[in-house]
Amino acid sequence: MTKANIPNGRSLPGTVVHYDEIGRIMACAAQKITGNANAFNAHVGGQFFLTPHPMALEAQRHQAMHYTGLLGYLAGLAEDRGVALVDLLKEFSPANGYFIDLTAAYEELWQRSPHHELDFAVFLEIQKQEKIFPTGYLDHCHGQIESLVLMAHYFKGRQIPATPDRVVMGTGFKNLFNALVTVLMTGEVRVDARGRDVRGPKPGTILVPRGHYQSLVKAPSFHNGRLQVIEGMDEAHIMEALENRGDIKAVYFSVVANPSGDVMPEDQIRGIARAILQYNALHPNDPVFVVADQVYNGSLLKKGLEIFSIASLTGASLGMDDDTVNSMSMFDYTVTIVSPSKTLGYASARIGFAASNARIPGDLDDIIARMGNVLGHEGSDGVEVSAEKGALGAYAFTPLSWIDANSEYVKSQLARARHHVETINSSLGKEFFTINDPDAGWYILSSFPRKHLPLGIRDSTDLMAWFMGSARFKKDTGVIVRPGSQFGLEAPNLEPRDHLILRSTLAMAPEDLDEFFRRLTRGIVKLDRIKTLETLTASKLAAAIETAQGLEQFILGTAQVFSLEKLKDFIQKPGLLDLSLEEVCMLIKALALDEVAAVLSFSK
Ligand SMILES: Cc1ncc(COP(=O)(O)O)c(C=O)c1O
Repeated sequence: MTKANIPNGRSLPGTVVHYDEIGRIMACAAQKITGNANAFNAHVGGQFFLTPHPMALEAQRHQAMHYTGLLGYLAGLAEDRGVALVDLLKEFSPANGYFIDLTAAYEELWQRSPHHELDFAVFLEIQKQEKIFPTGYLDHCHGQIESLVLMAHYFKGRQIPATPDRVVMGTGFKNLFNALVTVLMTGEVRVDARGRDVRGPKPGTILVPRGHYQSLVKAPSFHNGRLQVIEGMDEAHIMEALENRGDIKAVYFSVVANPSGDVMPEDQIRGIARAILQYNALHPNDPVFVVADQVYNGSLLKKGLEIFSIASLTGASLGMDDDTVNSMSMFDYTVTIVSPSKTLGYASARIGFAASNARIPGDLDDIIARMGNVLGHEGSDGVEVSAEKGALGAYAFTPLSWIDANSEYVKSQLARARHHVETINSSLGKEFFTINDPDAGWYILSSFPRKHLPLGIRDSTDLMAWFMGSARFKKDTGVIVRPGSQFGLEAPNLEPRDHLILRSTLAMAPEDLDEFFRRLTRGIVKLDRIKTLETLTASKLAAAIETAQGLEQFILGTAQVFSLEKLKDFIQKPGLLDLSLEEVCMLIKALALDEVAAVLSFSK
């Protein structure tokens, strides 16, 4: 692949890897390797600033130093506080604003342990001494039993009827999604007629909404599968897509949408469940599955919203007059994936969990067990046990109040961003762009009507590249954003929209947000000027020449847009003054197009 054409020897603002990635995108576009509308993943991570709860970090440190389970950490805490361990456990319960009922979880661990005939308190004394050395993963490579039991209780708290054997651990959402797609798109091993082991490929399609988490695009492609973007993730659109199902294997949605930050309402989720269960009732041997992304389990910016779990729904709760549907349960068709990456601020733990009771008809193992096989094979035993316990700590010890405090911060950043947008638009005397009003998370979408943009900006990938390079990589210029194309917002199978979307983050310090908008403003002002030149008419030019007192002066006055060198060239064109105003307009328009193209190709 062609390397990015980054100017040598200059210090680049931002992350070089991003520039490299953008260069790669541009190079791919030039080679027409744009299978999914330039939807390449330019993620290098690390933009997230909210830290995990300190107790999660302490739990991780404790495991690394003492090789204990989470209970070992809790026992140390109880000792420091001079309270009984049983009483300390009681503190961590949904009634007190925590996700997991620790007493219920450890009671289940007790019931499942060889010590279930002893007292609970005695069991805790034994259990707290359990050591988990890194080699513990040789036997439990998809999550320690303690973690699986506690996480089953976490899922139960989200109204999902999970049991520990229906939970699997991976290294975050992406890893689990990858394993799930592998399971959906390859068969179990069979012995063929000649006695050889075979695993048949089953490439397929995952339905995703217009505006979906960008990193989904990769996993299906390893199996020659693909995403299919549908306009809306609701009952009607899913039913329509399933009418001509083709090789659709599953439907994906995130309850808190990335990039829009919309929280999917319960009604809509019930509609999705109706579509799936009705379809599966008619196709019991070839059901469609649901991937419910619940990595955001909070981070709500508005009151009265809730994160609703589709896997909590039974057919009977949907109020449909259909006995078959009434006997079904969404947990049997849904793989719910969670990770502490987002709401709990612990992306660096690289841990996630999936829960499901789904099975592909004809398979010997259920989907969770098959995912476990894939994950185990790729080396989950390499996962740091301490990271697992840290992630578990994030789930167990992060109170809602901590999450809400983070959300308050994000809200203040949103107000700050809105102020910047108003200032930019009022200085330009037009609504050059707007930002959305997210329900949750910390991203904002900037929407730029195409009518304000120069012709050379063909799609959001161009717009992204423009904002990185419009000042030609001079120090302290350029911003990093993600283009809407990566989220399926410009899916080739859907009607084009009259605006381009960029996603940026509010998760940064206020002064960095100010700096972001200062740089963005520079890029916007330049776009606006180029657009004005591009749409110049003879009469407008005549007026402009009069105001500037001459054509040369007018041309030189565009120095904020074009380099002085280019302008001097332009003025020195032989016979310039003999040209008609229309001809001069055309020359200026060509110059404007050239300027945009030069920025987008990173040339000088
Ligand atoms: C909707 C959504 N799902 C999943 C992830 C990634 O999760 P993980 O860090 O566990 O891979 C993200 C992160 O950006 C996300 O926004």
